[in-house]
Amino acid sequence: MLIKKALLQRTLGLLCLYFIALLPFKGYSQEARSIADFDKDWHFHLGDVNDGQTTSLNDASWRLLNLPHDWSIEGKFSKDNPATPEGGALPGGIGWYRKTFTVPASSKNKLVYIDFDGVYQKSDVWVNGHHLGFRPNGYISFRYELTPYLNFGGKNTIAVKVDNSVQPNSRWYSGSGIYRNVWLVTTNKTAIDHWGTYVTTPQVDEKSAKVNFEIKIRNAEGQKLSLKTVIENQTGEVVSEGSLDDVVPSKDSSVIAKQVFTVENPVLWSVERPYLYRVITKVLVNSKIVDEYTTPLGIRYFNFDADKGFSLNGKPLKILGVCDHHDLGSLGAAVNTRALERQLQILKAMGCNGIRTSHNPPAPELLDLCDKMGFIVMDEAFDCWEWEKVKYDYHLYFKEWHKRDLEDQILRDRNHPSVIIWSIGNEIPQQGDSTALRIAPELAGIVHSLDTTRPITTANDRPDTSNKIIKSGAIDLVGYNYHEFDYAKFHARYPGKKFIATETTSGLETRGHYDMPSDSIRVWPSRYDKPFTDGNKDNSVSAYDNVRPAWGSTHEATWKVMKKYDFLSGMFIWTGFDYLGEPTPYSWPSRSSYFGIVDLAGFPKDIYYMYQSEWTNTPVLHILPHWNWTPGKTVDVWAFYNHADEVELFLNGKSLGVKKKTGDDLHVMWRVKYEPGTLKAVSRKDGKVVLTREIHTAGKPAKIELIADRKNIKADGKDLSFITVKILDKDGNLVPDADNLVNFEINGSAFIAGVDNGDEVNHDSFKVNYRKAFNGLALAIVQTKAKAGNITFTATSKGLQPANIVLQAK
Ligand code: GAL
Repeated sequence: MLIKKALLQRTLGLLCLYFIALLPFKGYSQEARSIADFDKDWHFHLGDVNDGQTTSLNDASWRLLNLPHDWSIEGKFSKDNPATPEGGALPGGIGWYRKTFTVPASSKNKLVYIDFDGVYQKSDVWVNGHHLGFRPNGYISFRYELTPYLNFGGKNTIAVKVDNSVQPNSRWYSGSGIYRNVWLVTTNKTAIDHWGTYVTTPQVDEKSAKVNFEIKIRNAEGQKLSLKTVIENQTGEVVSEGSLDDVVPSKDSSVIAKQVFTVENPVLWSVERPYLYRVITKVLVNSKIVDEYTTPLGIRYFNFDADKGFSLNGKPLKILGVCDHHDLGSLGAAVNTRALERQLQILKAMGCNGIRTSHNPPAPELLDLCDKMGFIVMDEAFDCWEWEKVKYDYHLYFKEWHKRDLEDQILRDRNHPSVIIWSIGNEIPQQGDSTALRIAPELAGIVHSLDTTRPITTANDRPDTSNKIIKSGAIDLVGYNYHEFDYAKFHARYPGKKFIATETTSGLETRGHYDMPSDSIRVWPSRYDKPFTDGNKDNSVSAYDNVRPAWGSTHEATWKVMKKYDFLSGMFIWTGFDYLGEPTPYSWPSRSSYFGIVDLAGFPKDIYYMYQSEWTNTPVLHILPHWNWTPGKTVDVWAFYNHADEVELFLNGKSLGVKKKTGDDLHVMWRVKYEPGTLKAVSRKDGKVVLTREIHTAGKPAKIELIADRKNIKADGKDLSFITVKILDKDGNLVPDADNLVNFEINGSAFIAGVDNGDEVNHDSFKVNYRKAFNGLALAIVQTKAKAGNITFTATSKGLQPANIVLQAK
């Protein structure tokens, strides 16, 4: 039975229908909308081209490639590249992309759009020589309509000019090109608009959830419509449904229909069980389906409380998050879903439950994965407003574009259950200026006009009461970058306000490098200082969590404060992964960051296990450093552990004593006179052994070991296998300082998409088939071509026993 509840006229003049219905409908299989992967077979030319958009231009000699593509990552590192080492020391420039395609004559009555998930930066797009638009923001997703300019049944040409030549324009590595996916979307003339649905869950408890759903429809032909919507659970069962008939047509895209659903006994979306429903909407004209559209739905509720902190579905939950930039190490900025998923899996295993998309809108695939894998996302918009941070950054475009860019971000991302916080800016230089009193409320107004279900924050490096953004009253959560020594004073400073640590820590480490003594903290005074002359000659940084910048703190010191107070709702550590650019505390020859808990290749640094011991239920016993030193040297041995009362350390069978964490300790330490042999740690609870770990002094490099993260991969041309390359001695011990050059060879339908070793100073290309090991490890990333079959991956190195591994692409 159909029950029409109300028909309301919106003040905006939009038609708004409010409706609940319980009409069963099934059996429609007609496909009304096509979303085609448009990544294949683009021609690319690095450098500017006169009239590169001209249809008649012969681009046959241009390089043929598939998107996503980042041309910077293919370039050579140089301190003279205009991006500077802060921007990753790789080249920028101008690039052109062209693609020819046909649209069937049968699509003549359709609407055709091209969707770009992100182009860095300043893109101009033409179809058949017609200019569609310019978009300066390198991180925003955008759409152009192609319909009026297409040759239906004939050949069409898309041309894209990407201009990343004016640099520096970023404080980190940006990449260059069409580095995210592109889609060709075809719909009927009456169809759901771009980002045209909005789902919210205003009332949720264990028994029932109310689901509000808004649909914006482009009704170009002014037809009379019906809407049929179902909510399906994860197994495809319909758990709620509703219809809306006689939607009054409007020729523009302003029909907004509202439906309200009830889901009984909902499975709530949480970080432990990220349960997803799907809202599937069909638009019908004269009982014929003209559009079908799927919106993800996670049913959850959350709260930020000034005293108790964050809670999800009524249960207190500290947000244990990390900040990350968008690059994927040796893959550069070119987005790859598997590479993102691997990063999230590594973080999840550490106990991390939050991601801050610093400092820009992320790839849509990241949010899809966060929905599926259970991460709380702080979705960030800007790193600057009207004032510059680096000379040619977004401040040049802010005035003209901020409204459009921010609106597009919110419209694109607001249906993701993982998105819990909007951030409208990171360390905005105008924090201290009265212009913030105007801009912050304006930005918050833009966000709230499109979504009122999530709080807004800014990441403030000056969170004191002189901060004009906070003073403006526009933000819901007071975001602190660093200043953990000030956390305890928060409520005295901001009575009744809600806290979030938008950015913390900035500990510095090189994986596998250790300087003694481990318990003296080194502070790098300022990012604006000249490169450090008192650092290590090879630009390495000790991995004992004892090196920090002046504005940050060590991992342990920060976490100790964080865990102490409930009102500290959560934190986002700078950073989960190392990233290209910002090589603080050094500069050239370093070209990537030292801030990651995990290195650029995806190998965890030791501090990863401190978090794992604190943030998960996984039994942990991790000891550091390696056991290859000069005899007689004093070496500090640390252990991170949980699920135990004590750890005993043995050197060559002789006990070096039992240690227990006391007070707020997060590790135990022994100061040991080094002698080669076996270091063994045993953790015990109530006298019973929990875990045992051994490290042996390694001999000379003798062989290679290969470990693939996945041996079965999809033959879809995009899937990846990450192969860890270990240099071992003859007894199978990792050689902790091995730097052997390893050559890779592939037999089968695949190629090497990137190689790395996590070394911040290495200037070899990421796009070759060899890599030196760094502190014993290297990485090769194998990408399938779109063909099934076996792939044999072989690694050889002079003087070492080679290794191979067989992958299956299906
Ligand atoms: C913060 C900034 C980050 C990064 C970090 C390095 O102040 O927000 O983008 O630069 O410092 O410690």
